[in-house]
Parts: sequence; structure tokens; C-alpha cells
Amino acid sequence: MPIGIFDSGVGGLTVYKSISKFFPDADLVYLGDCARVPYGNKSKETIIRYSLECSSYLYEKHNVDVLVVACNSASSYALDVLRNYFDIPVIGVVEPGVEAALDVSKNGKIGVIGTYATVNSNAYKRNLLDKAPDIQVFQKACPLFVPLVEEGMINHPVTYHMVKEYIQELVDKGIDTLILGCTHYPLLKGVISSVYPEIKIVDSSEVIIDKIKSIYNKKESGFRKVFLTDISPAFKKLESLLLENSKMEKIELSELCKI
Ligand code: DGL
Repeated sequence: MPIGIFDSGVGGLTVYKSISKFFPDADLVYLGDCARVPYGNKSKETIIRYSLECSSYLYEKHNVDVLVVACNSASSYALDVLRNYFDIPVIGVVEPGVEAALDVSKNGKIGVIGTYATVNSNAYKRNLLDKAPDIQVFQKACPLFVPLVEEGMINHPVTYHMVKEYIQELVDKGIDTLILGCTHYPLLKGVISSVYPEIKIVDSSEVIIDKIKSIYNKKESGFRKVFLTDISPAFKKLESLLLENSKMEKIELSELCKI
């Protein structure tokens, strides 16, 4: 049975792509809820409802037996609810990101960047401090990063400017490690590390692999299916995130289970 991966949109294809690379024989079904993106500035209740709907679609229509919540905003607010609701392993991006950051940080000063939802939920901060109460955590919401990526402005001067605008205050606090707490930010990794080469970057799309490895070791046919609830013009700019062998299909929002 396949691994189901969902995100608020196409940003989670960064996670999908990395899972696909490490698990070539696994069957993968990706759902991007592009019709309702962004989740990152919605309320906790709405993010939980959307997450339940996306997960139910993957669970009921595609019989997934592992659920990967690629969206950081959904991982921050909905993970416990999803774990209570479904009888399959549910893996979010927060825990792996936290473990990786604690592994690489030398000075115990860790920065977290994400959407308003992720930062306001304090999910990363809580998890980090639960595991290492003596460290210091500095968070910053970076709401303009998602639209900059979606506009394909990855190497644009405006993006360099915004990287400094958002991240400099964390660097001024002395962080040595920065968690990219949003699906879109791995696409800005090159820009961030060129501005701050001394900062260690934790990319959830990479660190989630170990978590999946610990519970998944099946060999299947290796099919790839990508379902999107909308195909917007912005998607064209990110289409390169899709894998060559991925079949992409638009589904109606009404196909997501109503709970
Ligand atoms: N996928 C979201 C996240 O990782 C970013 C885009 C959105 O706001 O929905 O938080």
C-alpha cells in the first residue's frame, strides 16, 4: 500500500521528491490542496479541518498505510488530531526537523522560520525545549517567502533583500542553526546559505527520510501519483518540482472527504 503525502499546495513536492529519491520502490500518492492554499495564515481550527479532509482522501480513496504531513503548518497544528483519528503511522515534519537541529547545533541557539501558523503554534519551539530545556530558540514568521517562491523569484534581488530582512535578526541573536519550517523554503536554501554561509540549515524535506526509514521497508511497484485540488498559473513556475514519471491529475475539492 502506498505512502500518502499531503501539503497545502505544491511546496510539499520538495518532500515528495526527496521521499521518491530515497524510496524508489515505494508507491507514492501526493495530494496538494492548491485550491485552498495558503494554510499558513489560516486559523488552527481551519488547518485541522483541512488536514483531516486531505488525510481522509488519501486513506479512504488510496488506501495509504503511512501518512506524511509535508506541510509545516498542518504538522504544527494537526498532527496529534491526525494520529488520534487514523490507525496508520502519521509522520510530520516538525519532530525530524527538531532532532536534526539539536544534532547539528553547537551553541544551542536555534532559529526557526515558517508561516504565521507554524510560528504562532510554537510547535518547533515547544518540541526543541522539551528535548533540550537549556537551549535558546528564536522564531520568525516569513510570510513573503511563499509568494516569492511561487512567483519563481528564487534568485531575484528582492528575495535576497527579504532573506536579510527576515533572518538578520535571528543571526544577530547568535543562532548557529536555522530550521526551514516551511515546505517552500528548501527552494531558498541556496539564497539563504549564500547570504549566511556560517549558518547550518535544517531542511525538513531531507531529515524526514530517517523517520520514514524507521517504519517503512517495503518493495512495491514504485508508482507515483500527484493529485491537486487546483492547477493554478503559479504552478507552471514550480512544475520542475514534479518528477518525470509522476502522473498529475486535478481533482475536485468535493472529492476530499467531508467530516
Ligand atoms: N505548506 C505550507 C507550510 O509548510 C506553506 C504554504 C502555506 O501557507 O500553505 O507551512
